[in-house]
Amino acid sequence: MHSFETGIAFTGSGSSVPSSSLSNDQMSRFVETSDEWISSRTGIQARQVATTSDSLTSLGSEAAQKAVESSGLEASSIDLILLATSTPDDLFGSASKIQAQLGATQAVAFDLTAACSGFIFAITTAAQFIRTGVYKNVLVIGADILSRWVDWGDRRTCVLFGDGAGAVVMSASSSDHFLGFEMRSDGSLNHCLTLAYDGDSNAQTLLDNVTVQKGTFAPIAMNGQEVYRFAVKRVPEVIEKALFRADLSIDAIDWLLLHQANQRILDAVASRLKIPAEKVISNMAAHGNTSAASIPIALDESIRAGSVKPGDTIAAAGFGAGLTWGAAVFRWGT
Ligand code: ACO
Repeated sequence: MHSFETGIAFTGSGSSVPSSSLSNDQMSRFVETSDEWISSRTGIQARQVATTSDSLTSLGSEAAQKAVESSGLEASSIDLILLATSTPDDLFGSASKIQAQLGATQAVAFDLTAACSGFIFAITTAAQFIRTGVYKNVLVIGADILSRWVDWGDRRTCVLFGDGAGAVVMSASSSDHFLGFEMRSDGSLNHCLTLAYDGDSNAQTLLDNVTVQKGTFAPIAMNGQEVYRFAVKRVPEVIEKALFRADLSIDAIDWLLLHQANQRILDAVASRLKIPAEKVISNMAAHGNTSAASIPIALDESIRAGSVKPGDTIAAAGFGAGLTWGAAVFRWGT
């Protein structure tokens, strides 16, 4: 009888951010803001922004390469590449180009979009393919270049975001480290955070009764207070649900790894769940909110710094546009 392993191990991680950094003080030179406002309201001190020599594909490929290297696999052993992004270089998808750059010749590759929840949704999707025995080695990348899409004159949004990419390799294993998940969407709140098609402003009349829309998007628009309230209420719920499915208590968590949107959101979620501050992973001071990349960048940096160790249990949660939110509980390592 054919047998296959359907447990899931996390075997490698990598990340990449652009070399061009922008501090809060530098931002205050072109938009009416201050280091004091940004630091105290968000915890962000600096972010990296893609220059003309960076692309979503180049950042994603670099993060992916490092993740594959640290997993010890050859790129040709990867079966599936999932790229979580809202900002592809190509609206038809950027995953295939990353596949080619890696030399992952046997992998099928596609994009998945769920804004700042994208990485959690993507590792959960990867897990389903491994569980069913269809694929053995899956590369999951979270990457975004929101600097292309913010209005740099809008201080309510432009100070929040940064660019980057992070990746993990998940592999079939005899032991199972993907312990539980919960994913949610609520499109009735879509208007709270958008990077939306804006064709009406640019319609093109072909014939008297035929007008087509032209491809343009309006910059990111956000109701910050609504998103804040949503995150603080909904994120603890999905973490509790994922932990319930994993049959684990809050005390069993070594690390709380949230989407790096705002330090105040991290503090509020941790306090609702009664998780002590020393278990909360935070790197937004250095990178800002990198959307789908924020969780895998924070994870990779913590692994490389030696704070997250093999066997540690991580409760991770993403939240953002859609609105979407979701949590996954997993154990790092093989
Ligand atoms: N610099 C200086 N002043 C500012 C700035 C700025 N960068 N931005 C706003 N202000 C001003 C406002 O104009 C307002 O002034 P007013 O009172 O004179 O009108 C005042 O500061 C307060 O503004 P609020 O919007 O009430 O500020 P708030 O305390 O809510 O903080 C923030 C705003 C940081 C955006 C917060 O609401 C937040 O973090 N929300 C969550 C955002 C988020 O997490 N998004 C994640 C999803 S991202 C994704 O999915 C792509």
